Amino acid sequence: MTSSEIRQQFLDFFASKGHKIVPSAPVVPQGDPTLLFTNAGMNQFKDVFLGIGTRDYKRAADTQKCIRVSGKHNDLEEVGHDTYHHTFFEMLGNWSFGDYYKREAIQWAWELLTEVWKLPKERLWATVFRTDDEAYNLWKEVTDINPDHILRFDEKDNFWEMGETGPCGPCSEIHINLSDDYNNPKWVNAGKPECIEIWNLVFIQYNRDENGKLHELPSKHVDTGMGFERITAVLQGKKSNYDTDIFTPIINSIEKLSGLKYDYNLPAEDKSINGLNNVAMRVIADHIRTLTFAIADGATPSNDGRGYVLRRILRRAARYGRKLNLKEPFLYKLVDVVANQFINVFPEVKENQSKIEKVIKAEEESFNITLDRGIELFENLIDKLKKKNEKVIPGNEVFKLYDTYGFPVDLTNVMARENGFTIDENGFNKLMEEQKQRARKSTKEKLSSVNIIINSTDDFQISSNNPTEFTGYDELKTNATIIGIKNENEKSFIILDKSPFYVESGGQVSDTGNITINDTHLPVINLTKINNQIIHITENESNIKLSVGDKVIATVDEKRRWDIMRNHSATHFLHKALREILGTHVQQSGSYVGPDRLRFDFSHFQKLTESELEAIESLINEKLRENLPLIHYRNIPFDEAKNMGALMFFGDKYGDKVNVVQFGNYTMEFCGGTHVKNSSQIGLLKIISESSIASGIRRIEAVTGAGVEKFIKELESKIIKNEELYEKVLDEKKKLEKELSELKLKEKLTLIDTIIKNPNDVNGIKIYKGKVIAENMDELKSMGDELRNKIKSGIGLLISEIDKKVGIVCVVSDDLIKDKKFSAGKIVGEVAKIIGGGGGGRPHLATAGGKEINKINDALNSIEKIISQI
Ligand code: ALA
Repeated sequence: MTSSEIRQQFLDFFASKGHKIVPSAPVVPQGDPTLLFTNAGMNQFKDVFLGIGTRDYKRAADTQKCIRVSGKHNDLEEVGHDTYHHTFFEMLGNWSFGDYYKREAIQWAWELLTEVWKLPKERLWATVFRTDDEAYNLWKEVTDINPDHILRFDEKDNFWEMGETGPCGPCSEIHINLSDDYNNPKWVNAGKPECIEIWNLVFIQYNRDENGKLHELPSKHVDTGMGFERITAVLQGKKSNYDTDIFTPIINSIEKLSGLKYDYNLPAEDKSINGLNNVAMRVIADHIRTLTFAIADGATPSNDGRGYVLRRILRRAARYGRKLNLKEPFLYKLVDVVANQFINVFPEVKENQSKIEKVIKAEEESFNITLDRGIELFENLIDKLKKKNEKVIPGNEVFKLYDTYGFPVDLTNVMARENGFTIDENGFNKLMEEQKQRARKSTKEKLSSVNIIINSTDDFQISSNNPTEFTGYDELKTNATIIGIKNENEKSFIILDKSPFYVESGGQVSDTGNITINDTHLPVINLTKINNQIIHITENESNIKLSVGDKVIATVDEKRRWDIMRNHSATHFLHKALREILGTHVQQSGSYVGPDRLRFDFSHFQKLTESELEAIESLINEKLRENLPLIHYRNIPFDEAKNMGALMFFGDKYGDKVNVVQFGNYTMEFCGGTHVKNSSQIGLLKIISESSIASGIRRIEAVTGAGVEKFIKELESKIIKNEELYEKVLDEKKKLEKELSELKLKEKLTLIDTIIKNPNDVNGIKIYKGKVIAENMDELKSMGDELRNKIKSGIGLLISEIDKKVGIVCVVSDDLIKDKKFSAGKIVGEVAKIIGGGGGGRPHLATAGGKEINKINDALNSIEKIISQI
């Protein structure tokens, strides 16, 4: 029998007993801050057990994806070292919500195990809570179990609790003993792989509160959980869960990647090289499932909370990989096999495969860098300690490696031992404790800085427990009646029968506004929700005494709300456009929708390019202009919404009834928020920033409507300011250029002074000549002028290289023109011949040009001869 058949038979069996088959909840819990991960099938029904939620069925069954790595149920350390604990597993479960109880639960469990699956009755054992005579007797009455196989245990084994708080109750477990000594009670609950618990039937009847007190629940419920991997091993006749068809495809892939073989014949505790390789392969096979499912459901490795747990799991798997000589990133290559295995049961994995692979690969790469750097630091440290003849690594060094460099402590420990060292564990633990204290303190400080917190309405005067009807989808002003009130010093906490005030949820911030009573406006400064009643926290400076039954008008600040709605609707367009342009791996991982702007966090692995951003923005604006109408489905069944293809956000809690927000045929999302009536009311969207907030998570900030107007105004005034600045800079530039050229000229003229000081004499005529640097002919001419002005009598010749050519200026003093009939024009003509050019001009100043730069010196040297021959 394949594992898929086993899963299906379980579901079919309970469907035949009138159970509704429901989907698994995501492994990332929805709206339950007491849990990091879904750890049992009953999590999604917690509200029903507590009497604060309802479903439209009284019996349900499913296979639930569970992760047990933190909190009360944490199996991490056993995983890999034994054959039947997992960080991720499927829990097959059936539930009764105030419907059937112990009798049917026991009877049906027995029927499925022994009649459908035909497990050998003589190997089965039942345990009950030590005082639960009812369950004890029912086992005898409704089953044919050997009465000696019914055992009583205490709280540790037979009282099940979801967490530190929450629903709980006595339970009855079914164990199977596969050893030869199966008739011996000593095996039960002894932690032996040959005798394991396969099914737990919990009789939920209490809620444990924060103070540890048990409160009787309004109704009694059944909550059962069977380990799918364990029952598959039993039914497939395997000794280990890892030998079933649930794990062998993954193990096969690990074998291929590592080139090593998994030895199916070795017991779990074997410590030979092959035995240790088996452990590593089991750890990896287990952890890759956890990582794959958690990331598929929206979690990402990070530095705190849930993300940190995932990071540790990934690092644990990567470290075991190194034991198999897998040094390069390899875990991400295993996602494919997991995705394909579950394509029909949990299609979300295949749908998110490439995203999951990218997240895991990026994380493996960064861990490899951490490891390599840590190993180097460790080696330096060991060298230093060896020189000092020390044998213990101080706690602060271990802490530094861990805290500053992310190097795992157990690795430090192993490497220390390899080098003949030990680590100062006490010192390390002390520093860890101090760090925890600091963290706790900062959370406390954060909490107390939130203005007003109310957790219960116990001290309110209440006339009705009905939920507040939210009218704010359709109107922003509602006539209402007070159904609950607490007046406190200058504050009133008001519960209304109806209210248009939106309470922060799904990223959309709470509304502001007023509650008006007899013409007095009480500003609403905060809002919260308890048991579906909206609590309006208002300023009441004159301490007006409000009472239950008072009529009030609740008015939301309209302009602010419209800005919020524009931004909220725009996030849906942004989400859709991102998926269209970047791909469907884009998933929302958080958002903020306020009046001033919107922020949208999503999974993606690269910085967005300018052209991608441009494409996204223009696609959105094009759609906004299409005037797409809002189609708002309210309170429709979850399944219906899902079948319509509405996008879900995994971080959110969805009840049985949900709202779906659709704009034209463009976007459709699960959403409880408030929205504009058609897309053109959004006006325009402008992306103002794009950045990274965690590995694989990008953030876009944008503005819409009035926000864009503000953005443009700011931009405009910036441009005007820039223009003014530009003019100023330009003037300054011109001034400086002028100064510079004057300076340059001065420098050049100094050269002329040198020329003047050393004239040559040809027949009593003074010749002033030299090579100068001029930018252009005009400058050269000015230099000629300058020279001429400075000499009393004589002939001047200046030559410069100008733009890869030769420029010449010749000047003749007035006396020489008059007395000797010298002409600058003639002279320059002669000189120009030497440089392959020509020129001319008036007698006192003439210029010429030529091409042969290498003849400049010849030209200069020719002047004396030319003059002497005239
Ligand atoms: N909620 C019970 C368990 O997790 C069935 O064992």
